[in-house]
Amino acid sequence: MAGDDTLLKDRLGLIADAALVVEHGRVQWSGPRASCPALQATAAAVPEVPEVTEVIDLSDPAGGARLVLPGLVDCHTHLVYAGDRAADFEARCRGESYQAIAARGGGIRTTVAATRLASTETLRMLARPRLDALLAAGVTTVEVKSGYGLSIESELRQLEVAALLASEGPQRIAPTLLLHIVPDEFRDARASWVTLACEALIPEVAKRQLATAVDVFCDVGAFTPSEAHQILAAARAHGLACKAHVEQLSATGFGRVAAELGALSLEHLEHADAPTIAAMAAHGTVAVLLPTASLFLGDAQRPPVAAMREAGVALAVATDLNPGSSPTFDPWLAATLACTWYGLTPAEALRGVTVNAARALGLENGTGTLAVGAPADFAVARVSRWQELLYGLGHRPIAATWIAGYRRGGRDDGAGA
Ligand code: NIG
Ligand code: FE
Repeated sequence: MAGDDTLLKDRLGLIADAALVVEHGRVQWSGPRASCPALQATAAAVPEVPEVTEVIDLSDPAGGARLVLPGLVDCHTHLVYAGDRAADFEARCRGESYQAIAARGGGIRTTVAATRLASTETLRMLARPRLDALLAAGVTTVEVKSGYGLSIESELRQLEVAALLASEGPQRIAPTLLLHIVPDEFRDARASWVTLACEALIPEVAKRQLATAVDVFCDVGAFTPSEAHQILAAARAHGLACKAHVEQLSATGFGRVAAELGALSLEHLEHADAPTIAAMAAHGTVAVLLPTASLFLGDAQRPPVAAMREAGVALAVATDLNPGSSPTFDPWLAATLACTWYGLTPAEALRGVTVNAARALGLENGTGTLAVGAPADFAVARVSRWQELLYGLGHRPIAATWIAGYRRGGRDDGAGA
């Protein structure tokens, strides 16, 4: 397969009949099985090369095709929430817009009301099957945003639930504080909420290391560009990475400002303009594309992917898992839609849910790759051609998911598969 022109062009680094050597949870070697030094040394008992303690055959016992790929990174989720948005869904099916529902107090506020009432244990229990669904799809690292608390105490609690989930494993969790919308209690005192966020919430989150990044939703019905600017400036001042939900429902121009502030990633970007794209390229800001959200909202506007590609902006793809705009647990659906609807190539989509998604989280330890030194997080897929990963609509290509060299999930019961 390595001689295939398409693969070389797409630089996916495919290896036929490969071996992966894992030591202390990290990739120690990868390459063609026939040239694996550890396997050769074990066979020939070469004293200076450590013996392989266990050889695991990842091929299909039934003779089907298998492909091993880096564990997926879902770099944008709102995984911790209570309640549902079935009533919003029904209203939207009758023609009411997402924005109109939000303006009359539904939308995000519905989820905030339910999330505030839920106990820590309830939130943890509700989040668990969502993580399990991602695990079965091959996701080994999950970003988790707060943003449905909208009070200091309740935002902190969402992040505490994320910390609890991280401590339980098996997935690695990247927690983000999301300043989502202005709470109703501060409707007539917006500036006070922004001050509280900047002077109390962000410092507390930084002090307790409850998040590695701060995200802000800048759009109609959420924060204004000047409020969002204050929030990201406070995040930076406290050593936290910056992200923004931006240019989603309307063009605010804040995308450019956030990139110039050094934002790690900008998310959605349906309405991103040329200055935003230029600033992202100049500052190495990753574009996180969320096609299931625009599809679910029935928004025909698509992000300017061709211009982003042309400018050299790294493209990531995520589920945006949340009860309102993207109630899905399927990163493969997001990746497929990124191809068919947003115009990514299959190789771009695959990098979008792996290596570029890791970049969007600032993970620079090889996460999202199987390079030497990377965490030994990988998925075993039931495909004979890598393109099949992207080609099914709503399919389940993953047989098994491994984290730090241990099998932690999957749908096949066969040994090693
Ligand atoms: O990523 N854009 C804003 N926030 C979420 C939606 C959250 C919700 O509707 O509950 C998003 O689409
Ligand atoms: Fe989101």
